[in-house]
Amino acid sequence: MTTITHIGDLQALAKKRVPRMFYDYVDSGSWTETTYRENESDLQAIRFRQRVAVDIAKRSTATTMIDVPVSMPVALAPTGLTGMQHADGEILAARAAERFGVPFTLSTMSICSIEDVAAQTAAPFWFQLYMMKDRDFIRSLINRAKAANCGALMLTLDLPVGGQRHKDIRNGLSAPPKPTLANLLNLATKPGWCKGMLGTRRYGFGNIVGHVKGVEDVSTLSAWTMAQFDPSLNWRDVEWVKKEWGGKLILKGILDAEDAQRGVDCGADSVVVSNHGGRQLDGASSTISALPAVVDAIGSRAEVWMDGGVRSGQDVLKALALGARGTMIGRAFLYGLGAMGEAGVTRCLEIIHKELDVSMALCGRTDVQSIDRETLLSHTLPAFCSPR
Ligand code: GLV
Repeated sequence: MTTITHIGDLQALAKKRVPRMFYDYVDSGSWTETTYRENESDLQAIRFRQRVAVDIAKRSTATTMIDVPVSMPVALAPTGLTGMQHADGEILAARAAERFGVPFTLSTMSICSIEDVAAQTAAPFWFQLYMMKDRDFIRSLINRAKAANCGALMLTLDLPVGGQRHKDIRNGLSAPPKPTLANLLNLATKPGWCKGMLGTRRYGFGNIVGHVKGVEDVSTLSAWTMAQFDPSLNWRDVEWVKKEWGGKLILKGILDAEDAQRGVDCGADSVVVSNHGGRQLDGASSTISALPAVVDAIGSRAEVWMDGGVRSGQDVLKALALGARGTMIGRAFLYGLGAMGEAGVTRCLEIIHKELDVSMALCGRTDVQSIDRETLLSHTLPAFCSPR
């Protein structure tokens, strides 16, 4: 039995248990992967201000994200192909999130459908939307999310065209995998994963197959999807989505303060400072470096969250200290899911919660809602942090 002490242990286990093409899909950024790496390294460069002899006996990591009570300010980010990390992955991750008291976001490009997840969970989850050319299909996705009682719609803005991830091309990524010799040899080394997949019927893009005329064959679906993503996406579309949806709107994929302001003008309740985990514009800034300017620009008009590079509770604390109200994790929970299914996602959340709680305590803080820049050592803050 492997001892799991931190997210890196879950990652190592996921690497052993998940077929190469799906593990690589998660552990990759676009082109040179510079932005993917800098999301993590810029977070790591920041240091905490240790404080002592403060009564930290009673502590709380509870807060809210767009008025949803959360046990810690960490939501599960929408991630494509989650049901390929582990059979029925989206359902398992949603259940683990629900039990832990944090939000789960279902991707448009999930394996389990909106209806599947709704039928297997009690807490409202959030639904992530990609803007596609077929507006009737977008409307039907929005209506399905309403019917499933989703608590918020998260519109992704940073994928009007796809960033290139070299490993996906080399691996011939598809869902399900094609029966090539290389894939079969690799699958032969992943018996647990194969057993899980034999026990489910969910191995295509569940939100799409059967819902779009002429799309029955999953093997052509990713090509169809790339052809469908709408490169003309602009702020008028964002206003249109807000109107069609009528509920809480989260805009994900913003790095620029002016864009954040435009997004809030369009009715966003939250903007997520995100570079798609370094999977889109390689060479864009890391999210922790983009965060302070967005926070300054938005003030109290909307919530500002951050994802990208968050692999520990310490990363969460640093993002909060630089003004984020909440954070989202993608890879961290996917490694847990690939390693140990639902229990692995729970383990991931436990690890991050403990790291957040202990780090907060050792910084002399008792309430996650009171975290501010004083929690950090100012001389370790990079130049991107404007003085206050
Ligand atoms: C989709 O969201 C991806 O990053 O692959």
